[in-house]
Parts: sequence; structure tokens; C-alpha cells
Amino acid sequence: MAKEPEQIFQPFTARHLEALRKLVGADRVLADDDANGAEALETYSHDFTEDLRFKPSVAVLARSAEEVSKVLAFATRERIPVTPRGAGTGLSGAALPVRGGIVLSLGKMNRILEIDTDNLMAVVEPGVITEVLQNAVAEKGLFYPPDPASRGSCMLGGNLSHCAGGPRAVKYGVTKDYVYGVEAVLPTGEIVRHGGKLLKNSTGYNLTQLLIGSEGTLAVITKIFLKLIPMPTRKSLVLAPFDSLEKPAAAVAALFQAGLTPSACEYMEREALEAGCRQTSEPNPFPNATAMLLLEVDGFSDAEIDRQLETLSTVLERFGAADMALADSPERAERLWRIRRSIGEAVKTRAVYKEEDTVVPRFVLPELLKRVKSICAEYGVASVCYGHAGDGNLHVNLLKENLSDDAWNSELPKCITRIFEAVRDLGGTVSGEHGVGYVQRRYLPIVYGPAELALMRAIKRAFDPAGILNPDKTLP
Ligand code: LAC
Ligand code: ZN
Repeated sequence: MAKEPEQIFQPFTARHLEALRKLVGADRVLADDDANGAEALETYSHDFTEDLRFKPSVAVLARSAEEVSKVLAFATRERIPVTPRGAGTGLSGAALPVRGGIVLSLGKMNRILEIDTDNLMAVVEPGVITEVLQNAVAEKGLFYPPDPASRGSCMLGGNLSHCAGGPRAVKYGVTKDYVYGVEAVLPTGEIVRHGGKLLKNSTGYNLTQLLIGSEGTLAVITKIFLKLIPMPTRKSLVLAPFDSLEKPAAAVAALFQAGLTPSACEYMEREALEAGCRQTSEPNPFPNATAMLLLEVDGFSDAEIDRQLETLSTVLERFGAADMALADSPERAERLWRIRRSIGEAVKTRAVYKEEDTVVPRFVLPELLKRVKSICAEYGVASVCYGHAGDGNLHVNLLKENLSDDAWNSELPKCITRIFEAVRDLGGTVSGEHGVGYVQRRYLPIVYGPAELALMRAIKRAFDPAGILNPDKTLP
């Protein structure tokens, strides 16, 4: 990997701490000088990415765009690195304060400012928890579909930063498909606004979409305009077992060809389902199956659901899934979803691991699976695969298990490089929904050439000339 150009930052001193406390109020600035502050800095030194830890010098809890502006202008003036932070549930290390300095928490900016039922739009602050918004709009019969597995604790600002997906993306799209405007603060302290409650907008560069997925490296998002849709009134969930790894992935393409767009289309291989069952203490419904599909259909009438279930079972039977289980109550469905959503956490607690978030065109997913398994076998690395089959988005968890530290450290990067080369050859890319953050940057040159990387660097410089905002993230 090419060496980073060395960024010139100033060490954070007592003078800086005092200045920040004057700027936004002492109660909003947490440092090591009291027990509360020390505990907070410990929390902010890690996110959900592996076991990485970097301690910041200070944490600032912002309450408004104006405060964010003051802090960023100060940091640019003083050359102090700033790492924006939502809930810290990210899996690529984008919220890790790798250069120390300031962690700028947006968690206190957690107001739902408006649910506009006339225009079907919500206006929110970045610290709103995804599920809190979903529940609030559901009370009005509305739906905000993006549902990352961490939706009970992750925040919308972080969802934008990574363009979070989740199971329902297959029918309803990912975060970017719902964001129609933002207010954001540039590292210089200027507040910029783009878009709003507008379903159409061809007025200049699309700054809103540029900020989505930028992982807090360009600006700090302080207000978000989100599209809402009517909440489907019916849904049904099916778990289908298969006797091979690739058949379920092949069945998925056939489902779409048959005209069905499920509202979730999740793939789990045996070990993934087992891990989820262990984590939730639920019995494994299909202990002998090699791999599984968890499929949901939704709609607005029983007839619509029945028609979809019929297509579903006809297609799946063709691929050898005779023994499907229909979740016959909302409680049963919720239990299956809990198993599915806990897989990431379960794999994490099982062993030293590294998670890759591969994505390829849906139709070549079976081929990707085959290649991942054969590459892993070559390097002696165990793998557990699961993910969003309908999106061609496969989470590949590589496990250390019995490998020595030396073998793991030397073989793993080679194994991952080979996996991403296979992904690229199949028309895919490095991350579908977890982002690049801190830990995936080295793999970007596999999928982007010098022209793309230079363009991305130029965009970064245009937003953040001093380079203080989330340094060492997103770009190699
Ligand atoms: C999931 C997260 C890890 O799909 O993206 O469970
Ligand atoms: Zn996922």
C-alpha cells in the first residue's frame, strides 16, 4: 500500500480544551479531567469494527448546526482532526478517531423536526435512531424502509454517511433512495443546504447525493429530508432450506425473472443460521439444510400476498426447496428476523474474524460464492457467508479459528485481495453497504483506477482544504 502523505496536525493541548469549553459550554465538552469524561472517551475510542481502539483527546456533544460550525471552524484554524460520530455501530471503522483530536458526537441532535403527511417527507436531525423514526412514521401509516441490522441503535446521520442498506433494500432501495435534501457544515464552518422536500431537482451538482456515503470526510450533516411511502398492510415470511450453497443464490435470480420482487431476500449458509440461533437461543428450524433463504413478500391485500407466495413456492421448488416454513404469525416472523439480525453479532463473538461486504450483480452471486469458498480453501481460512441475496450483497466473514497468529496475519490480506479481485472480475465492488471507512481503504485500488482516485481526492480537498475532517478514511 502506498504511504499516506503525512498530515500536519497540532497536538491537542489544555489551551484547546479551554477554548472549546468557552465555544460551546463546558457541559458539552468531555475530556479525561473527570471520571465522566474519561468514560465517554473510552466509549468513543471504538465502534463495531473488529477490536480496533483509538483514543480521542476530547469529545464534543453538539446540539445545533451553529455549534458544529463553531467547532469545525476552530478545528480548521487550529489544525485539529475531527471525527464525526453517530451511534458507533459502523463496521468499517469510519467513526474511529484514528488521529486522536476531537470526536464530534451528533447523538444529542436527535429531534424528529417534522413528519409532513401532505408531502410524505420527514425532516430529522442526524442523531435520530433509525427505528425511532420508523416507529414514529408507522403511527401515521407511513414507511421509512432502510433497515440496517442495527436499526434499533444506529442513527440516521450514520446511515447517510455509509448509504446503509438492509434486508428491505431489495424492494425499496437503500438510504440514498430516500434522501432528498441535507443541511451540512463544511470544515471551514460554513453551513450549506441542498435539496429539500423536492422529489425532482436538476439544479446543479447533486451535493446531497455526494455527501451520502462520504463517511464524514467532506462535511457534517446536521439536517436530513427523507422521503416516506405508504406502509404495506400485509406481509408474509418464508424460510426455505436447500441442499447446496449455490442453489438458493440461483433461485433468487429465477424469482425476479418470474416477476416477483420480494420485500426481503436473505441468504444464510448453515453456519450463519446456527450462529444466529445460538445467539438468540432459538431452535434451528432446519438443522440439516446446507443453506437457506429467508424471503418476505408484502402488499396491501391478502390476494396480493397469496399471488406472490404462489410464485415463490413454484420457483423455489424448482430449485429443490420442497420443505418451506411459512411464519404463520407476526411473533414467529419476528423471531426469525431476530435470528437473522443477530448473525453479525454472533459471528463477532465466535472468533477473531474479518468481515467483507462484497457486492456483485445479483445473477452472478452463485459464482461469487463458489469462488469465495475456493479462495478461502486455498488459504486455509474458514468463512461464514450470509447477506442480502436479492441485492447480490454477500457478507463474507473470514474466521481465524485454528490458524496461528502468523498465518492469519500473513495470509488474510492475500486472501481478501483475491476475493476482491474475483468480485471485481464479476462486475462487483468492495462494499455494498458497510462502507470503506478505515479498514477497507487498501482494497480500493482493486476496483478504482488512478483517475477515479484522483477525482475523489480532489473532491476531498475542495470540501476540506485543511484535511481535518475524518482523516485517514474512505480514500487509500
Ligand atoms: C447484516 C449487517 C451486518 O446484514 O449488514 O446483518
Ligand atoms: Zn447487511
